[in-house]
Amino acid sequence: MESEYLFSSLPIKKVEGILPEIVTDLSVDSRTVNAGGVFVCIEGFTVDGHAYVQKAIDQGARVIVASRKIEVDLDKVAVIYVEDTSRAVALLAPRFFNYPSKRMTMIGVTGTNGKTSVSNMLHSILSHIGEKSAVTGTIGFNLDGVLYETENTTADVLTTQQMINQAANAACTTMTMEVSSHGLIEGRLAGTEFDIAVFTNLSHDHLDFHKTMENYGYAKGLLFAQLGQDLSQSKFGIVNVDDPWGGRMKEMTSHPILTYAVHTNADFTAKDIKLTVEGTTFTLVSPVGEFDVSMSLIGEFNVYNALAVIATLFAKGHEMEEILNGLSVIPAAKGRMEKVETDLPLTIYIDYAHSPDAIEKAIQAVLPYKEPNSKLIFVIGTGGNRDRQKRPVMAEKASIADYVILTTDDPRDEPYESILAELEVGMKHKNYACIGDREKAVRHAVSVAESGDIIIFAGKGHEDYQIVGREKLSHSDAAIALDEAERKFGEGVLDK
Ligand SMILES: Nc1ncnc2c1ncn2[C@@H]1O[C@H](COP(=O)(O)OP(=O)(O)O)[C@@H](O)[C@H]1O
Ligand SMILES: [Mg+2]
Repeated sequence: MESEYLFSSLPIKKVEGILPEIVTDLSVDSRTVNAGGVFVCIEGFTVDGHAYVQKAIDQGARVIVASRKIEVDLDKVAVIYVEDTSRAVALLAPRFFNYPSKRMTMIGVTGTNGKTSVSNMLHSILSHIGEKSAVTGTIGFNLDGVLYETENTTADVLTTQQMINQAANAACTTMTMEVSSHGLIEGRLAGTEFDIAVFTNLSHDHLDFHKTMENYGYAKGLLFAQLGQDLSQSKFGIVNVDDPWGGRMKEMTSHPILTYAVHTNADFTAKDIKLTVEGTTFTLVSPVGEFDVSMSLIGEFNVYNALAVIATLFAKGHEMEEILNGLSVIPAAKGRMEKVETDLPLTIYIDYAHSPDAIEKAIQAVLPYKEPNSKLIFVIGTGGNRDRQKRPVMAEKASIADYVILTTDDPRDEPYESILAELEVGMKHKNYACIGDREKAVRHAVSVAESGDIIIFAGKGHEDYQIVGREKLSHSDAAIALDEAERKFGEGVLDK
């Protein structure tokens, strides 16, 4: 790209050295700088890019963007000084890739719970319809059936633009992104032009970062503000108005809003909801009439997710029939109340619930279908060094289950004793065990289970690891549970 065009987007304080005519690459990590590239020095929480300038030059960087004076050989590189390098990369990244989000319909999904579920449902239905779509979020970046790993639900600004560019270059017409409140506050979505913003719900989570619910709600609202004020463009907000925060989301944009709800009036609502363990049916009441809906996803929360998906695809211009056909065949997102298929006399679900509201919703999704005299066993852990306020509330919600096993979920450097002690405070009954080692906790759940029981392993979802100390150890609730079940119920029970 021509460097004059690229850098004209920056509020430059000073340039030292001679800028090349063309730059070939943009990077914030000295290890990935390529010859002829631009290296932007970002001051992160743990590392400061200014310390890696020489490494970047050795790798072939031709331009350095810095906010502090650096000593370099100006015959080799040019230095652009700016006030704030994080803002600089947010301006450079979309321009470097020619504003890729403008080349696709971009859907952003935010909220405390349901982002991964809704985004993957959207992607699955679009793929079913035959539209080329990509999705990125907690589970990864899914393009052309290949799943690339992502570090966070919402990636840094440069990676985000790279992914969008990759999807646009692969001829995707739609890209769905899970948008976290951290990502919004930290400007990681800068330069991403969304066409549809979806709000699922807001409940207690991440208060270690946001401090108050007010800040947290404001952060989510930024996605709606980010739809912009160019009303000549057809853009939509999709809002759950059963949630008290729904109204606030509406205030954040002037673009048209389509609402959905189960308990209040809205553009898209569900009536005659029939929830079973096998799936869900309801009558959709929409601006274009009433329709029968059937899907394999379970639990009332999935009715909300389905309404969000239906409203989004309707706003995007799809026919109701093709939307509902797609919805009837798609599976649950990986690790979201995902049933482990076995011949065991038990029912096992792997779930990702790790906020109080999600825990309640996950348990309620199966509790009504438990056989008489059988029990619902719920295994729940919480992360170390993170949001401690939510721990007792999580245990309180988990108490709806008959037997609860409190354990860890990425304990990091925190001793499990303090994690368990803070969880335990919220327990409402005495039918529980505290087992810090998650593998032992999973084995214990299976060992106390009897025929007809249901076990939900919550918190890990699609994740195949457990972070202990600084190490990422391989871990699978499902694999451990099945191993224990085989020991208990005998070999051959898992032949499915
Ligand atoms: N709309 C919803 N409302 C409440 N809980 C939900 C909803 N959708 C999913 N859940 C629960 O929350 C967990 C996390 O869902 P997920 O889709 O991964 O949300 P997110 O990506 O927002 O963290 C699921 O495993 C399920 O237990
Ligand atoms: Mg997610």
